[in-house]
Amino acid sequence: MSSKETSASSLELDPEKIPAHVAVIMDGNGRWARKRLLNRVKGHEQGAETVRRIVRACRELGIRVLTLYAFSTENWERPKAEITALMTLLKKFLESEKAELLENGIRLTTIGETERLPAGVQQALSDVRAATAHLTDMTLNLALSYGGRSELVRMARRVAEKAACGELSPEAVDQDLVADLLYTRGLPDPDLLIRTSGEMRISNFLLWQIAYAEIFVTDTLWPDFSREELIDILKQFQQRERRFGKIKPEDRA
Ligand code: FPP
Repeated sequence: MSSKETSASSLELDPEKIPAHVAVIMDGNGRWARKRLLNRVKGHEQGAETVRRIVRACRELGIRVLTLYAFSTENWERPKAEITALMTLLKKFLESEKAELLENGIRLTTIGETERLPAGVQQALSDVRAATAHLTDMTLNLALSYGGRSELVRMARRVAEKAACGELSPEAVDQDLVADLLYTRGLPDPDLLIRTSGEMRISNFLLWQIAYAEIFVTDTLWPDFSREELIDILKQFQQRERRFGKIKPEDRA
């Protein structure tokens, strides 16, 4: 038995039904801080600690890809001080976690308009992405300056460009081609989408990729989200019947 299987089955999880890709909308940092009469930035700091915990837990449980919605295209509208604090936290996270990612075989990838991020953050991202590019045990995929609609517009532009220069005929446009022109190229679609802090929204996240994802919304605020709650969600995920739009064989007439 591999260590991954030992870990999953000792937690009463079926190692065969561990989702390959978990995507998370990390919401509620601001509310966590407000409840404690603290500045919102304290909530983000605590949120970064949760990121560390959950990356570790996913690695231990054998989840192959973890995508975290860390900064949306809409988040650029937040007060400048909050944006600066988030960028500083992100840079610190990359610098402090690089060794742990390397040690645990975790590759860092990003999706989104990372060219809009401050130069220092871009530098830290390039450094960790390059240093971990060869690792294959797990992928930590950070959505940064990401928006699902922008991603689809970018894809449509590329299709139009290829068509305009005669490289692509309309019949050649299919789902594989579209998927290949998205930021997530090469990654499996998320099997499980988790949103913390209770809002029943998708918030422009992975609009194409979550077509058949199982969705779990928890009232827990992101800074309070724990390994135990993740395991509990995974247990519920394993109870769900995924039909991908089809019917069960026994229900066929
Ligand atoms: C949503 O909470 C959270 C964000 C906009 C940013 C997520 C950032 C982190 C978890 C920390 C840094 C990230 C990494 C990868 C180290 P909110 O501010 O919208 O909360 P609210 O809805 O309660 O106001």
